[in-house]
Amino acid sequence: MFQAAPLQSADKAEQYAELAEQASGLLHGERDRIANAANFSALIYGALPELNWAGFYFYDGNELVVGPFQGRPACVRIALDKGVCGAAASTRETQVVRDVHAFPGHIACDAASRSEIVVPLVADGNLIGVFDVDSPALARFDDVDRVGMEQLVKIYVDSLRDSRN
Ligand code: SME
Repeated sequence: MFQAAPLQSADKAEQYAELAEQASGLLHGERDRIANAANFSALIYGALPELNWAGFYFYDGNELVVGPFQGRPACVRIALDKGVCGAAASTRETQVVRDVHAFPGHIACDAASRSEIVVPLVADGNLIGVFDVDSPALARFDDVDRVGMEQLVKIYVDSLRDSRN
C-alpha cells in the first residue's frame, strides 16, 4: 500500500521531484481516470503548502465538468471561453495567474483564492481536461511550479495508458 511521506527537501524544484516519485508510485498499476484523479488531487493537496483547492475538470467534448478534487465545493461546468480553466483548455498552455482578481473572466469558486495555476491535460493530441490548483496567497505559483506541475500532470496522463503502467 502506498504511503504519502512528507517532502524532505527545502528546495521547491526538488520537492516537485519528490512529489513526482510519489505520484508515480501512487498511480502505478491503475488506469482508471477517476480513481487516479482522486488520489492525484489528494496527494498534491496534502503535500504542497498554501493551497485551498486542487483538482480536475474533464472535457466532455463541449465544456469542462468538475472531477475529483480537494477543497471547497466548486462550480460544475466551465465553458472553454471562460475563466482560467477555459483559457488553459482552449490554448492548451499552462496558465499561471499571480493575482486572480486581475485575470479577466476569472471564476471565483472560493472567495479565498488569490492565485492559481491551471495545466491542460492533453493525450495523443486530444484535450482530456485541466488540472487546477488555487492558493489563498498572492503570487503563490511561479515558473518552478509550472515546470513541476507539468511534470506531475504528465504522470497522471501517462497513467491512463496501458503500456506505461
Ligand atoms: N478559478 C477557476 C474556476 C475553478 S475553481 O478555481 C475551482 C477559473 O477561473 O477557471
